[in-house]
Amino acid sequence: MEKHIVLLPGDGIGQEVINSAKEVLEAIAEEFHHSFSFEQQEIGGTAIDLYGTPLPEATVEATKKADAVLLGAVGGPKWDNNPSHLRPERGLLGIRKALDLFANLRPVTGFKQLLHASPLKEEIVAGSDLLIVRELTGGLYFGQPSERRDNGNAVVDTLSYTRHEIERIVDKAFKAARVRRGFLTSVDKANVIESSKLWREIVEEKKAEYPDVTVEHALVDSTAMKLITNPTHFDVIVTENLFGDILSDEASVLTGSLGMLPSASLREDDMGLYEPVHGSAPDIAGKGIANPCAMILSSALMLRYSFHLEEEAKLVEEAVQSVLESGAHTGDLQIKGGRLVGTAEMTKLIVDYIKTQHPAKCIQDCYR
Ligand code: IPM
Ligand code: MN
Repeated sequence: MEKHIVLLPGDGIGQEVINSAKEVLEAIAEEFHHSFSFEQQEIGGTAIDLYGTPLPEATVEATKKADAVLLGAVGGPKWDNNPSHLRPERGLLGIRKALDLFANLRPVTGFKQLLHASPLKEEIVAGSDLLIVRELTGGLYFGQPSERRDNGNAVVDTLSYTRHEIERIVDKAFKAARVRRGFLTSVDKANVIESSKLWREIVEEKKAEYPDVTVEHALVDSTAMKLITNPTHFDVIVTENLFGDILSDEASVLTGSLGMLPSASLREDDMGLYEPVHGSAPDIAGKGIANPCAMILSSALMLRYSFHLEEEAKLVEEAVQSVLESGAHTGDLQIKGGRLVGTAEMTKLIVDYIKTQHPAKCIQDCYR
């Protein structure tokens, strides 16, 4: 399989972890006889410094031609006081919109070795395995341009959704649920907000098409509570942009593995942008100690969702899991009695696992 991948390292540790993902993908390409080509472009604060904009035209053009995009992270204190159009986050919002990446998938899976680092009691969090499907290109983030009125003393932000926008995200969530445990929680605020009422109606209509999926409706406030009191209740959660932003941050810390969490942002045709859930960690950038696992696991999601290479995706995930089980870990992970390693060594261990475990080696060498 031939694929062209655009790398957007962005800011802070984004630069380091993206190299790790590239090394892993090169190993996968070699083992499975694929041909992956890579091209690097700028986004975020780095792009502001180089080109005076968080999302240069060249970046948009390159990503439009790509089969998939890997993004490190954007942001940092250096740009915190910039005016809003010159903030690194604008680059991220701009590329989501430019590529129509409306479906944001954020899986939260616990690693046994890390559960003790959860803020919840281990017996409550053990067994949690959920997927948040967040609408990413509509809602309050992208309403009519926000405006100040009354000499700056009043403000208007617009929350708008069309039937089409809701239907397509709900469809993605039903499809995700049917290959998992078949349980979908649709989260809204239908007791107050009009867009949530339409959302609920559409989920009700859609469920006839997915008889294999059980659906419940839940309000966003009580869902925030239940994520803490009973996280194993959930399988797939689908919700609008802002609710999804908040709930996915909440969910990301449940399993004590923030540094391990990947995400995917997909277009209708499954082209996608893949990024770790963690940020740019400017305090540790450039030190060679960043945890590359979330970025590497994001590249596994790319193999699965955009390239439909399930075996390859599983091998990457298994490699990360097995290296963690061996006790090797970066400084952000609290693994008792393990061996502390840096970004390069962690990556090498994962690459080595892929190279030694892949059975294609044996098929070629043993049956010649
Ligand atoms: C995220 C981030 C972004 C968002 C910010 C950086 C604009 O928090 O990916 O969740 O709110 O969508
Ligand atoms: Mn967020």
